[in-house]
Amino acid sequence: MQERDPRDRLIVALDVSDVGEAERIVAQIGDAARFYKIGMELAYGGGLGLAPKLAASGKRVFIDLKLHDIPNTVERATAQIARLGATFLTVHAYPQTMRAAVAGAKGTSLKLLAVSVLTSSDDADLAEAGYALSVSALVERRARQAQAAGIDGLVCSAAEAKRLRAAVGPALALVTPGIRPAGADVGDQKRVAMPASAIAEGADYLVVGRPITGDPDPRAAAERIVAEIAAAI
Ligand code: C5P
Repeated sequence: MQERDPRDRLIVALDVSDVGEAERIVAQIGDAARFYKIGMELAYGGGLGLAPKLAASGKRVFIDLKLHDIPNTVERATAQIARLGATFLTVHAYPQTMRAAVAGAKGTSLKLLAVSVLTSSDDADLAEAGYALSVSALVERRARQAQAAGIDGLVCSAAEAKRLRAAVGPALALVTPGIRPAGADVGDQKRVAMPASAIAEGADYLVVGRPITGDPDPRAAAERIVAEIAAAI
C-alpha cells in the first residue's frame, strides 16, 4: 500500500464533537490533506454522515471505531461501514473479530486495520486484564494473527513500527498516531515521534490530530507535516 505522493500519507484526525466544526476544518485545510479520520467522538456526535460526503468530494476516510463484538455483528457492521465509502476501518486484533471483519469487507474497497494492544496499556494493565503475555509479545502475536486473518494493516506507535515491519513484511500498511512535528505540544501522548522518524521507522501513514486541528492555520500546519514526510522519503 505504498503511496507515491507524501500528501497521501497524512491522515488528519477530526477529533471534534461537532460536525460543523469538522467541516470547517476540512474546508480550511483544502487540498493540503486528502485523508481524514472520524473517530468515536465525532461519529457519536452525528459525524458518520460526513464519511460519504468526504468520499464524494474526493477525500479518503478512515473510520476509527475499533469494532469488537460477536462475529455476526462485526461482519454486518463492517459491511455497513463499507457502504459509507470509507477506505480504512479499525477493529480490535482478536482473531475471531478480525476474521468476521474480513468477511464483512469482502468484495468492497474497504481496508481493515487491526489495533493490537491499546497504547494506554502496559504490562501491568495486561496482567490485571488476565493476560500472561507482555505488551510487546502480545503486539507481535496479534500482528501475525492479523496477517493470517487477511487484515490490510496495523495501527502502531512509531516505536513499534520497525519491529512489526520485520515481523509481518512489506504487505501490511503501518498506520502510526502519536506524531508531533518539531517543537509541538505533546498533549497527553506519552510516546511521540516526529514525522520524519516515523517514516524512517517504516510507517506508511501518519495520523495527526491536534497539531493540525488546534493550529490557528490548519492548512499551513498540514503543509508543514507533508513537507517533513516528503523530506523523509
Ligand atoms: O491529537 P493527536 O495527534 O494526539 O491524535 C492522535 C489520534 O490518533 C487520536 O484520534 C487518537 O485517538 C488516535 N490514536 C492514538 N494512539 C493510538 C491509537 C489511536 O493516539 N494508539
